[in-house]
Amino acid sequence: MSDAYILGISAFYHDSAACLLRNGEIVAAAQEERFTRKKGDASFPIQAVEYCLRSAGIGAADLAFVGFYDKPLLKFERLLETYLDIAPRGFQSFVKAVPLWLKDKLYIDRQLRDALKFEGETLYAEHHESHAASAFFPSPFEEAAILTVDGVGEWATAAYGVGRGNDLELHKEIHWADSLGLLYSAFTYFTGFKVNSGEYKVMGLAPYGEPKYVDAIYREMIDLRDDGSFRLNQQYFNYVGGLTMTNGAFEKLFGGPPRVPESKLTQREMDLARSIQTVCEEVMMRMARTVHRETGLDKLCLAGGVALNCVANGRLLREGPFKQLWIQPAAGDAGGALGVAQLIWHRYCGKPRRVTPGKDAMQGAHLGPEFSPDEIERTLRSQGAVFERVEGGALRRRVAQLLAEEKIVGWFDGRMEFGPRALGARSILGDPRSPRMQAQMNLKIKFREGFRPFAPSVLRERVHDYFELECDSPYMLLVAPVKRERQIPMTSAQRTLWGIDQLNVVRSDVPAVTHIDYSARIQTVDHDANPNYYDLIKEFERLTGCGMLVNTSFNVRGEPIVCTPADAYRCFMRTHIDYLAVGPFLLDKQAQPAWKETGDWRQEFQLD
Ligand SMILES: [Fe+2]
Repeated sequence: MSDAYILGISAFYHDSAACLLRNGEIVAAAQEERFTRKKGDASFPIQAVEYCLRSAGIGAADLAFVGFYDKPLLKFERLLETYLDIAPRGFQSFVKAVPLWLKDKLYIDRQLRDALKFEGETLYAEHHESHAASAFFPSPFEEAAILTVDGVGEWATAAYGVGRGNDLELHKEIHWADSLGLLYSAFTYFTGFKVNSGEYKVMGLAPYGEPKYVDAIYREMIDLRDDGSFRLNQQYFNYVGGLTMTNGAFEKLFGGPPRVPESKLTQREMDLARSIQTVCEEVMMRMARTVHRETGLDKLCLAGGVALNCVANGRLLREGPFKQLWIQPAAGDAGGALGVAQLIWHRYCGKPRRVTPGKDAMQGAHLGPEFSPDEIERTLRSQGAVFERVEGGALRRRVAQLLAEEKIVGWFDGRMEFGPRALGARSILGDPRSPRMQAQMNLKIKFREGFRPFAPSVLRERVHDYFELECDSPYMLLVAPVKRERQIPMTSAQRTLWGIDQLNVVRSDVPAVTHIDYSARIQTVDHDANPNYYDLIKEFERLTGCGMLVNTSFNVRGEPIVCTPADAYRCFMRTHIDYLAVGPFLLDKQAQPAWKETGDWRQEFQLD
């Protein structure tokens, strides 16, 4: 019997992606942004599709089905109804949106035919069904409750239900324009960050502020019920028909206009961030309690953009009613490509699902392109790079030694990660014990805001030595406190420091990964899913006694994570990364020829 291939696609909103299944097994998945080098690229993911097909050695004619992650006609219906509802107020955004819809979004069948030369059947799932499928089918659970929360799909902005065996069912939804994702995005916009990608920054900024606007948000903006359902007061928002997220009433409530992007952060933004984070966590907690009560199940699968809020996830795990959580690493819309493909395999084709207890089906999210030593060497030679070949264990020993000397190392190894986090395949690494590391990595390597915390990659078996976390967190989607005995309390003088001035206070014996509130966004690394990365951390532990590294994604601010060896070399040369380990090759920055820039890359990535 020949293999059955199913291609899933998500596109046209943000973060387009493709995913390929072979006989139900996920064999490849990638986001289009990594190939086009445009962050959050929403265009038809032709390069991601080509990569998926190439990696399996097949053509479009070999595909049994193509799946699209939402239903464009339903989305269009929402758009039309919304505009008719508020006409003529939304005319400006209507004029902007409709031609796009008519041109691209409604003609997906034709796009597939033209771009892919695919003549077979295309199937469509609803947006939250795709999220739910991406949360449940790859999970290690035979049966689980499912909760999906995002900005908006067709009509739904949140949904819950149950997954069992090879099918799932959604029971209830919250509908547009009441949306937790869009409420959070409104504050992202107002605090001067980019909607759809800056939400992470708001979450990172929150611990610097006080929750002083929580009452105002509950009083004026959100009517939150005990069961976690809610209504938003649209008088404060502009996303239904306008081109911005917030309006004059929002400004009046919070004492002035939105922060101009890149301008100085003030206490107001920190307090706003803390306040919306507090509200978001409360909504998630109430939703989770309802889902638990209604389904009677004690395992929960999460997806949708809000499931990337790892502070809320951490609280859910510590305080929530569920015993176990599994969160899809590509929880945003990219993961919809994976979800729809699995829906076709399990529901449409009726194929059984094999569950391995304790092990998910994501292969550590290492589903993207990889490069052979020959390919890497050719790239390095073409760049005029100076490098030496160091194999396997010797390379890891060298890199561990460099890290122990406080050097910063670009680490490029194996298949690229699927989803927004770097997990040790396309990462920049540092020593978490170093008090200088956070500021140095933020300002000299990532060219990003100094307040942003870094995440630790910790050996799975040592997570209890450092953090209050009782379970695995392989995809860096859970935040937990640093162990009390490792915390260094602030002196009374330090406590009086204002906001970001607290950044340089050493708060634990692993200061580079300890956030201002003594929390850390944790990745647990186990040998099976990530052997080389595990062995590298183990080597660092042998040298230093410390079983973890600082892990940040291999990119600069505003740039997608690097995909190819050429991307990695370019990023290495543009920043103050000291060494680059790419495949079996090691490069010392000091030995490289001078880097010649073509064009203004700082402007391209909106750097200062
Ligand atoms: Fe979504």
